[in-house]
Amino acid sequence: MDVEQAKKEAGIAAVQFVESGMYIGLGTGSTVKHTVIEIGRAIREDGLEVTGVPTSIETEKLAIEHGIPLSNLTELGGLDLVIDGADEIDPSFNLIKGGGAALLREKIVAQASNRMIVVADDTKQVNQLGAFPLPIEITPFECEDTLRRISDICGVPARIRAKMNPTWRERLESMDSDVDVPSHITDNGNMIVDAGAGVPFIKDPETIESQLLHLAGVVEVGIFADMCDTVVLAGKSGVEILRLSDD
Ligand code: 5RP
Repeated sequence: MDVEQAKKEAGIAAVQFVESGMYIGLGTGSTVKHTVIEIGRAIREDGLEVTGVPTSIETEKLAIEHGIPLSNLTELGGLDLVIDGADEIDPSFNLIKGGGAALLREKIVAQASNRMIVVADDTKQVNQLGAFPLPIEITPFECEDTLRRISDICGVPARIRAKMNPTWRERLESMDSDVDVPSHITDNGNMIVDAGAGVPFIKDPETIESQLLHLAGVVEVGIFADMCDTVVLAGKSGVEILRLSDD
């Protein structure tokens, strides 16, 4: 099974956890997109009744396209579960997230959910986090200074992500071409930094997370520690449901 097929199978299999009447957090990325599409199909064909809260503008558009009723945390108060992707998953189900720059909204939705289910292909499983560069959302103000402080804490280089958010690109194209804008802006108007050097550097996820969050200028960190209880993982041997208590 190739990686794209594994993402699809994991994304679809996670819908077994969705029941009628639930309030569901809808994650962001190329794996959970299959979950969103499958929930849309189940609404149309099987009479599933759920309300979703999206974690990005991209997912909001996809959910609307597939007929999923949407709301927000103010209206719903809390969620039964969130289904989301991950960039790395360690043996305790600590995660790196934010490869798609949606980490802030993803963490707000995850903390409002009774449980977090991660969908992934098996290349995302690691023994220690940090080979995937850690995404960190920061404010544009004095971003170079924040960047230096992030590098000092992590002990690895941190760089401002160069890829432009498509939503911002659309906005930029409709603006005056002389306007000087940062190269990458999130759905929340902030920038994304990636910290890493290709080797796992996160020995203690909760400590690094709290040190980074202590920095003025850091809005959110892509370490999701102690949030996920179930991983729907797909690879060569098919789809496996991994639960934390199985360890
Ligand atoms: C977006 C995320 C994604 O869930 C994560 O990057 C995994 O994405 P994909 O399923 O495309 O590999 O955290 O901010």
